Formats: sequence, C-alpha cells, structure tokens
Amino acid sequence: MDRPRITIFDTTLRDGEQSPGCSMNVQEKLRLAQQLDRLCVDVIEAGFPIASDGDFEAVQSIAAALRRPIIAGLARACTGDVDRAWQALQGAVHPRIHIVLATSDIHLKYKLRITREKCLEQAREAVRHAKSLCADVEFSPEDATRTDVGFLCQVIEAMIAAGATTVNIPDTVGYSMPEEYGQLIRTLRERVAGIDKVTISTHCHNDLGLAVANSLAGVQQGARQVECAINGIGERAGNASLEEIVMAMRVRPDRYPYETAIASEQLFPSSQMLAEITRVPVQPNKAIIGRNAFAHEAGIHQDGMLKNPLTYEIMTPQSVGVPDSRLVLGKHSGRHALALRCEQLGHQFERRELDEIYRRFMVLADRIKKVQDSHLLELIQDVASGAVSSGSIGKDDGGGPSKKFPPAAATLHLPRAVSAAAGANANDSHPAQVSGSAGQASLSIPFTDHHSEQEDYLWGV
Ligand code: KIV
Ligand code: ZN
Repeated sequence: MDRPRITIFDTTLRDGEQSPGCSMNVQEKLRLAQQLDRLCVDVIEAGFPIASDGDFEAVQSIAAALRRPIIAGLARACTGDVDRAWQALQGAVHPRIHIVLATSDIHLKYKLRITREKCLEQAREAVRHAKSLCADVEFSPEDATRTDVGFLCQVIEAMIAAGATTVNIPDTVGYSMPEEYGQLIRTLRERVAGIDKVTISTHCHNDLGLAVANSLAGVQQGARQVECAINGIGERAGNASLEEIVMAMRVRPDRYPYETAIASEQLFPSSQMLAEITRVPVQPNKAIIGRNAFAHEAGIHQDGMLKNPLTYEIMTPQSVGVPDSRLVLGKHSGRHALALRCEQLGHQFERRELDEIYRRFMVLADRIKKVQDSHLLELIQDVASGAVSSGSIGKDDGGGPSKKFPPAAATLHLPRAVSAAAGANANDSHPAQVSGSAGQASLSIPFTDHHSEQEDYLWGV
C-alpha cells in the first residue's frame, strides 16, 4: 500500500540561521544548500531577501545553482517584501514565495498594533500580489497556536481563496502540546473550506522540547509538509529537528506510515557540515547524529552489541551516514570489549593474561575517562614486560596522553550491513566483521540476519 508522501521543507538557512551564533555568509549558505540537495529535501527556505543584501544574494545564488528542489524566500505581508523575495528567486526553476503575518491577538495588539480586520486584509492583499508573480505561494499565520481558532479558520480560508497553495501552521513560541497541535490541524481540516486543495504544513518550535512530537502529531492529523532544520537549529530553542522527524518515520512505519524522499545516509554528513560551518557543536547525546548516538560504553551493552546489534541499536549507524558504531573503552567496559580491542591491536591473550590486563585497565579507566589505543598498548607492553603497575600510563608528558605509541582511534569499529532503503547495498546475511585499523588483527562475530525493509533501519523491536 502506498504511504502518504511528506514534503520536507528545510529552514536551516532561514529560521535556523536566525539562531544565535548560526549566521552564515553567502558561500557557506550555498555550500550547505548543495548538501541539502544531496540530502534530497523537497524545499529549501534559502533566506529572507528583504532582511539584508547578504540574505538577498544567498537566496539568489541558491536559486540559480540548484535545479531540483523548490527554493523558498520569506516575505512579510507587504508589497516591498514580496517583490524583493520574487526578485531574489528569479533564477529558480521551482520558486516559492512564503508570506508570514501574525494572527494571534497578542501579536496584533502589542507587536503589529492592527485589528483582526486589518490583519485579514493585509494578508489577503499580500497573497494575491504574490500569486500574481508566482504559482507557488505559502502563507504562515505566525503564532497560529495562540490565535483564536475561529479567526485562524477565517484567515486560512481567505488565504486559500486568494491563491495560497500551502498553509503553514506555526507553533511560533513552542507552546503547544502534541494532542493539542494535532487537534488544531484536524479542526482546520474540518472547518476550512478549500483546505483539501492545499498542503497543510507544520512549523514547530522547541521551547518545551516538543517540536518533533508536535510535528508528528500534525502529520497524523493530515499535515503533509513538515518544516524543520538540521540539528534542530532555529529561533531560541530551535525548530523541529529534521533528522529526528525523518528517522522517526523510517524506524516506526507501524506508527508513522509516511514516506519522505530524504537520503538518510546524508543526515550525518549534513549535520557535520552545519556544525563545521557555524562552529556550533552538536550536543553529544543528540538523537540520530550526536557523537554518542551510536556509542556504547557499559559492559553489558558492549557485550550485547558484539553478540547482536539488535540488542541496543534501533537503526543502523550506516542508515544515517554514521561510519561506524563506536564502543568507547572506559570504566564501564567489560572484558569482552577489551579483549576484542586488544585483538584489533594485534594482541590475543589467555584467560589469565586477560584478567591481569583487565585489572590494570580498570585502574587506568578509573583515572582517565576514555582509554585510548595508545594507553592500551602501553598497558599491554607493561604486562608483557612484567612491569609492576601501569601507574604512569596516561600521565607522561605532564599528564597528557603518552607519546610512546602513535595514537589511534579509540573506538571499536563494527562495519555491518548497510541499509538497502538508504540506497546502499544491503548485505544482511554475513557475519559482522569486527576489524581494527590497517595492518591490525581482525575477527568475525556472527550476528542475526536482517531481512525486512524495516529492519534495515530497525535492528529490532
Ligand atoms: O516561527 C514562525 O512563526 C516562523 C514563520 C516565519 C513561519 O518562523
Ligand atoms: Zn519559526
């Protein structure tokens, strides 16, 4: 059965760029837009052309460079903004003008100082004008979730009549709860004439950490476009995180039976590029693309992972473009993981030798957070030469890592079946090769086959 297709509207370059520390210059925006194209997002909101010459130029160069995606430019509901956006979008194969006007009483009264009637008229004029220039027009009633529902229905109905092809429902201040947001989308579908002819879109901010949950609730009630950003960047606490939205649908099609065009193996590279350009790091425990999202340190977890990754991973790292699963060697690691890393470094031990290595390893791991390969090699050499303790390891050179051995990656690499649905070769019946760096020992650990499409993402339920 065909699953409904969800349009992924990426606003990393517009709403995302508005977040503190995330501003980008024209070249950086163009580079990121090219990566968003590789990621196969459907719409790239490239900027807010009237805001600055830099924003105008960025929208213009992205519009000229990318042929496949829709390129959107933001405009407030006034002729000057709409004309400037349209000017910037001239080179686009698929241009979209995105108009925003606040509709909540609190915004009308304190920010815009206009009545509801004036708001409705201004929005209508702007959408009509945009429509006279561009076939693809999106309208956003800013602060929709705090807008009187009757008035919201009236505004949206009028915008559809004026020519809007997408109506976006922003939870601008991240105030909504998932059931509430879903209910709002349902109400609009029930009450607004012509709504079935346009695309309903979600745009949720993360002030209460609910942006992704709210967006998914909107999709369940009929929204077919989701506005989101890489790494969840955006005003204040950010926007719904693109990678979380996409992978929630991929990993749980039983709950979210929807398709996106996203090339999921480009998620991690996109996240890395954004972090590199903005120098805003991703929190280590960030879902999907954080440094620790596929790292396993606890001994029980490492043991389970080595026996069968289904035990602790619900999607393959490869399906989101993370090169390897990582087993961090630290004080929670078990013998199994330690023995494996030693083998990868070219050392196999009898049970009693391993006991001694493990004992010293625990002493060391208690002192330093992560045991690097260089430390492990020193420790192995100490044990082999009968040295009494490994007390100096990790302390050479004034407490920094010892330079006795060249540093190497401190992770256990588990190359495994690559996701078929992510466009790579699925090789789902071979034993997992657990290998070290070039020239080092490797060993095979068999694990359960993965057969179904879902299992390419979902190791197990
Ligand atoms: O949060 C918001 O309301 C916006 C609009 C421009 C869609 O970013
Ligand atoms: Zn926003």
